Amino acid sequence: MVHSDIVVEMQHVRKEFGSAVAVNDLSFQVNEGEIVGLLGANGAGKTTSIHMLLGLITPTSGSIRLFGKDLERNRVEILEKTNFASAYQFLPWNLKVWENLFVFAEIYRVKHGRKRINDLLEMFELTHMRDRITGALSAGEQTRVNLCKALLNKPRLLLLDEPTASLDPDQADKVRKIIAALQKETGMTVINTSHNMIDVHELCGRILFMQNGRVTAEGNAEEIMRQYGSASLEEVFIRIARTPVLEKLEHELATN
Ligand SMILES: Nc1ncnc2c1ncn2[C@@H]1O[C@H](COP(=O)(O)OP(=O)(O)OP(=O)(O)O)[C@@H](O)[C@H]1O
Ligand SMILES: [Mg+2]
Repeated sequence: MVHSDIVVEMQHVRKEFGSAVAVNDLSFQVNEGEIVGLLGANGAGKTTSIHMLLGLITPTSGSIRLFGKDLERNRVEILEKTNFASAYQFLPWNLKVWENLFVFAEIYRVKHGRKRINDLLEMFELTHMRDRITGALSAGEQTRVNLCKALLNKPRLLLLDEPTASLDPDQADKVRKIIAALQKETGMTVINTSHNMIDVHELCGRILFMQNGRVTAEGNAEEIMRQYGSASLEEVFIRIARTPVLEKLEHELATN
């Protein structure tokens, strides 16, 4: 694969849950080696998009290609090279940390699995917790175990859904540095959803702002801040999130 190869390609993807439209005509591409931030207000469609990229849910319409192949028809091959972590989805609660990671290492047929697990536990400062029951860990500890799981198979595509949401500032900083260093070392592609603008600034070379299930702004942090005349990404986020509501209110005021 050369650097400009497209790893993720969503084309006109739509996802309906009953009468609700979670993702609406979503199209974007991610090149190999990019770290892209998927941002947007609560309910914008970020997690739904990630779940579709993982094949956990099927789009109502549109197409998803990963590594140049159709996801639906090449699911196993694609998912072997992909992994995922979220601050909100936990591994089986009743297994020990080590057991959980071992099960996933077996599923992914990780070479030298035991060493890989030990290295990852060390990296995320969890070695002393290897024999603890996963469900008895704190939220931030479980999030870091999830990150170990997500890196077991040395994924070429890493999908992160708010990976630092439950982490204290010190651990969040360490996790950002680990992800950045691993990306540099391996050239993996990362899609990262976050409400933490420090994550976005530090990690993401490109940002996709989602609103009501579509991408409504795109660029690197500086470009987007310039485009919106804002001094911070936080300000841009708030402006984008509030714009349609303000427009609606103005319209209602004008017509009443
Ligand atoms: N299984 C489901 N059934 C019905 N509606 C759903 C389902 N999953 C998601 N939705 C709806 O789809 C929309 C998008 O949800 P999604 O979880 O993708 O948002 P998000 O951008 O990840 O938000 P957050 O920042 O809160 O995590 C929301 O309005 C949500 O209520
Ligand atoms: Mg979400």
